[in-house]
This record gives sequence, C-alpha cells and structure tokens, in this order.
Amino acid sequence: MNGTNDQRIERVLLTGGSGFIASHVLDVLLDSGFEVTVTARSEEKGKIIADSVKPHRLSYAVVEDIAKEGAFDPVFQTQAPFDYVVHTASPYHLNVQDPVKDFLDPAIKGTTGILKSIKAYGPTVKRVVITSSSAAILNPGNHPKVYNETCWAPETYEDAIENPAKAYKAGKVLAEKAAWAFVQDEKPNFDLAVINCTYVFGPIQRKLASLEAMNVSNHCIRDMIQGKLKNGFKLRVPVPTWVDVRDVAQAHLRAMTVPRAGGNRFYVVGGYFSNKQIADIIRERFPSLAHRLPADALDDLPDDVFGFDNSRSREILGINYTSLEKSISDTVQSILNLFPDA
Ligand SMILES: NC(=O)c1ccc[n+]([C@@H]2O[C@H](COP(=O)([O-])OP(=O)(O)OC[C@H]3O[C@@H](n4cnc5c(N)ncnc54)[C@H](OP(=O)(O)O)[C@@H]3O)[C@@H](O)[C@H]2O)c1
Repeated sequence: MNGTNDQRIERVLLTGGSGFIASHVLDVLLDSGFEVTVTARSEEKGKIIADSVKPHRLSYAVVEDIAKEGAFDPVFQTQAPFDYVVHTASPYHLNVQDPVKDFLDPAIKGTTGILKSIKAYGPTVKRVVITSSSAAILNPGNHPKVYNETCWAPETYEDAIENPAKAYKAGKVLAEKAAWAFVQDEKPNFDLAVINCTYVFGPIQRKLASLEAMNVSNHCIRDMIQGKLKNGFKLRVPVPTWVDVRDVAQAHLRAMTVPRAGGNRFYVVGGYFSNKQIADIIRERFPSLAHRLPADALDDLPDDVFGFDNSRSREILGINYTSLEKSISDTVQSILNLFPDA
C-alpha cells in the first residue's frame, strides 16, 4: 500500500495516457494503489482510457499538444495536488514531414514545458520520471564495447534539420539533456529519474482501435503474423536490443518510488533479438501461423553486436527481465485476442 504515514493515497500525473508504454505504466500504478490522472489529447481518448480500467482511482485531463507553451499549466492549476509525475508523452512514429514540428518541439518543449509547469504550479511533486530512450544513449557511428548510463547519443538539433531521419533520436537526447539541465539550474522541489528503455515489445493496449494504430515497436511482430515478412525482411535490425513493456512499466514505478533512484538514468534492456528469433518463437508457440512466417531466414543479429550493461536497473530498480519467448508469445496472443482476423 502506498501512502504517507497518514495513509493518504498518493497521486500521480501520467502523461501520454493513450500510448503503449503508458497503458502498462497505468496498470502498475493502479495495481500499486496510486490514484492516477492521465493526460490525453482529446476528451474522447481520455474517456476510452478511463472506461478501460474502471472501477479504479483514475481520471483524465486533456492536453492537446505538449509542445505548446504552458500546455500543462491548467492541469496543475485545476487538479488536486500530485506527488509524482511520469512523463511518457512524446511522438514515436515513422511519418516525419517536419522534423521540428513532428519531433523536436514535442520532445524538447514537451519535456521542459512540463518541468516548468511543475515548478510553477506543482509544489507537492516529489519526483518526476521521464521516459527517455536508448536513442539518447546509442552512437551507431562509433559503438563503444559496452553501453551504459554514462553514454550519450551525439545527435544535435542541426543533425535533425539536415536529416529528418535523425529527428526522433535527436529529439530524445536533447529532451533528456534539457531535463537534467533544468533540474541542475532551477533546483526545483522535485528530483528526476529517467528511463532509457530500448526497443519495447509486449502486449498491446486493451482498447487499440486498429492494427494500423499499433505502437511502432510492435510492428515487426504484427507484420510477421500478417505474413508481410514471409518473403524476407531487412537484415540487421537498427537496434538489436529489446525489452518487455511490463519490465519498462515496473522500471517507471520503481524509479518513482525507490528513494535512491532519484538523480539517475536507467538503461533498461532485456536482451538481444533478431527477426529470425521472433519468427522461430512464433512458429513454435503458434503453429497455425507458421505458413505466414519467413522460412529458412538468416539470423540477422550482427556478430559484432555491442554490449549492454543493465546492472543499475537490476540493482536499484530490482528489474528481473522477461524472456524473449514470453514477451513475443504474449504479444502475439494479445494481438489475436483483440484482432482474431489479424
Ligand atoms: N516503444 C519503444 O520501443 C520505445 C523505446 C524507447 C523509448 N520510448 C519512448 O516511450 C514513450 C512512449 O512511447 P510508446 O512506444 O508508448 O509510443 P506511443 O504508443 O505512440 O505513445 C506516445 C504517446 O505520446 C502522445 N503524444 C505524442 N505527441 C504528442 C503531442 N504533441 N501532444 C500530446 N501528446 C502527444 C501520444 O498521444 P496520441 O496517442 O494521441 O498520439 C501517445 O499517448 C515515448 O517517449 C517514446 O519516445 C519508446
């Protein structure tokens, strides 16, 4: 049971409530006894989330665009006080038209904006947990032998303008750097913990509207069971490390509640994967889907793959990482449960 000595139920603001990772963070927060307000971009999206988990201690607030100046001010001005904030909202899609509008602004201004709003109007907030990414750690042009939390991606704002394909990665690293700088310069009442999760697989949201609306990082599993990769896939996945979304959710919860987690980034990685491994697991666990899977595929996990050190997440957050077999099987089952004709 969470709570202070007087057993007051503690309150969490969770941004990006409609998102894949947030849906699992919401589950662990509610299961742990917190009262949660999620932000969503519209009334409709907020209602869908609220209806999906009743009768829990859950409400929603509409924040249409996190990139707008003062976007979160009304949430802190009008809602009962929060003890914690978990900021997951940030664009993660493959459709970049304008690197500034589509990625850099919502990632960076969304992050600095919520920190400013908390400092101005949320004096009760004790800790903020931000969902950064391994994108803010990895340097594919010059991989070290082993990545850990001391590593920073090199992308700059200018890199993203020059090459919009770098906009997601640049947005994540610049947003995270801005958050650490804010805490150092502004010395607010709250401290900060950051989750640098790698590529995330896992069960889809309970109320996903369509297979097209599925979060990007589960696309390879969706495409595999739809037979779209039957005749081959691109070798060498860009990031050959993965983590289960339920471990990511636990990491957020514990980064919020474990006292010594404050002031840390956490590189949250479950292991390596390849498309061939995914296909092999699906073939074994779901034989009826075998005809849709790539047969005799080469293993696309590079031989010279970089190392990763996830010891901080295991030691401080107590994460006991889920196996690839379980993650892929549960993801496929969740897709088939919601979309039996997938
Ligand atoms: N999935 C991964 O593999 C992975 C790995 C590392 C880090 N991350 C990080 O994890 C977080 C969540 O990602 P996800 O995979 O859960 O993606 P997701 O399902 O696409 O969720 C993104 C969330 O952010 C919201 N959002 C995006 N732009 C916004 C804006 N301008 N204003 C208000 N809300 C906005 C989305 O709202 P709508 O639903 O209304 O669009 C959605 O709720 C992101 O910060 C992402 O960078 C993800």
